[in-house]
Amino acid sequence: MTDEFLWWRDGIIYQIYPRSFMDANDDGIGDLKGIISRLDYLEDIGIDAIWLSPIFPSPDVDFGYDVANYKDIDPKFGTMEDFEQLIAEAKHRKIHIILDLVLNHTSDQHPWFIESKKSTDNPYHDWYLWQDPKPNGDPPNNWQSIFGGPAWEYDPDLRQYYYHMFYKEQPDLNWRNPDVRHEMLDVFHFWLDKGVAGFRLDVFNAYFKDPEFRDNPSKFGIRAFDRQEHIYDVSQPEMMPLLKNIREILDQYDQTYVVGETFMADTEQTANYCGDDKLHAAFNFKFAENRWHPKRFLNSLTEWYQSLSGYAWPNNFLSNHDMTRTASRYCFGEDDRRAKVAAAMLLTVKGTPFIYYGEELGMRDIPIRKRSDVKDPVGKTYWPNFKGRDGCRAPMQWNDKEYSGFSETEPWLPVHSNFVERNVKTQTADPESILNFVKTIIRIRKNEPALQRGDFTPIITDPRHLLAFTRGFGTEKILVVLNFSSRELTYQLPDGTWVSLFDNQTTENELLKINPYQVHILKLKD
Ligand code: GLC
Ligand code: CA
Repeated sequence: MTDEFLWWRDGIIYQIYPRSFMDANDDGIGDLKGIISRLDYLEDIGIDAIWLSPIFPSPDVDFGYDVANYKDIDPKFGTMEDFEQLIAEAKHRKIHIILDLVLNHTSDQHPWFIESKKSTDNPYHDWYLWQDPKPNGDPPNNWQSIFGGPAWEYDPDLRQYYYHMFYKEQPDLNWRNPDVRHEMLDVFHFWLDKGVAGFRLDVFNAYFKDPEFRDNPSKFGIRAFDRQEHIYDVSQPEMMPLLKNIREILDQYDQTYVVGETFMADTEQTANYCGDDKLHAAFNFKFAENRWHPKRFLNSLTEWYQSLSGYAWPNNFLSNHDMTRTASRYCFGEDDRRAKVAAAMLLTVKGTPFIYYGEELGMRDIPIRKRSDVKDPVGKTYWPNFKGRDGCRAPMQWNDKEYSGFSETEPWLPVHSNFVERNVKTQTADPESILNFVKTIIRIRKNEPALQRGDFTPIITDPRHLLAFTRGFGTEKILVVLNFSSRELTYQLPDGTWVSLFDNQTTENELLKINPYQVHILKLKD
């Protein structure tokens, strides 16, 4: 791999949930023109790529993750011209665009599915996973939907069941059908030809299911879905050759990237999907799921690096559109100190960092108070034990005007009440804000190849309170010390003269003083 800057390895990827980033036509839903209008902000932070959650036509049962046409833009987000403009304007700022491909299932409103359920001899019938009932009328096997209930939905006209891992409005495609496979691979070409730089593959390891539709064995768990070993409905071996085909397509274009969302996979399995003839990267959920403890973060990083070693470059994330935001998980009230440490960790450990929109502001989840307010159907199903994923999907907080500058109209989800203080405008003006802190670290990172592609060596000194490590690249060495605790600590600097990359102060053979939640980034002077 090149020693020069490589965007997907050395850069930073920023995830935008398009419904909630910026609404340009004031209908309460974010759109592409809105994103275009905020590209200067993204350039100013210093990101290198945007991962857009799905922007394709969708009835929005699962807010874009139920696609009704893979080769068009949903009118609520804009037009194909808007998208082309986004690509061009982003490119102008050296920002790459990554699309989110949801190829495991379509919407039940997709013309293919509508055809598929017309009759069992319709040419599209076999594009989905239709099965006859058992002789007693029961579903074909014991598979469950992760969003609740059996994964099989009965169609009384056809007298068959179709399979859906997610909502019943998201029928799973039959990837063993060569026409499906052909059509899907064509989707990659379609968007690459438009100039996108890569893809995030939604639940890619669920594309194939057991061809014999065998029952999953049981295990202990609370929900029906969790009471099964998922050995027949995900992670089937056919995924490997398919990834090779996908990668071959990507490799026909310059500097492209594909990152997969591994569904219900451990670190090792996740790593196994990455490599020169597979995915560039996949998401390791273990890192994001840690509780606030430096040793735990370190362990999951070490495990991730070891599993990937020799295969692929790592990547890391702490937030996305499916989970409670970083700051809501780790911070107390509106205190941002832990969110700053988390951001510094994400941006300095080895691996491409993924930032979820608003994470740079320390945005918190909005509270979901009533079942009737819930937009994400899974939150209604499991209310009140699980309130769904609306919390982390609230409008971006741009300024202190009504609706936080996101829109002039009431948005599809409420703005967090902390927006008056916590917004881009206020934080830009405040030198102590998390936004300015994140920008500073990104600037430091941009200047230091060691922080981008350098190796990673942990330093075990006070593993209950400190996360300390070096990043080395050629003769350059950078030391990062993160205080995860509210205590003042000391740390004996290794030999040499160290320059703080925050303020250029030099320190030598010293006992470094580390304030509560302080972050030190020091470079060895040669
Ligand atoms: C992925 C997405 C999630 C979606 C699901 C079904 O897990 O991240 O938002 O609901 O796939 O497409
Ligand atoms: Ca809009």
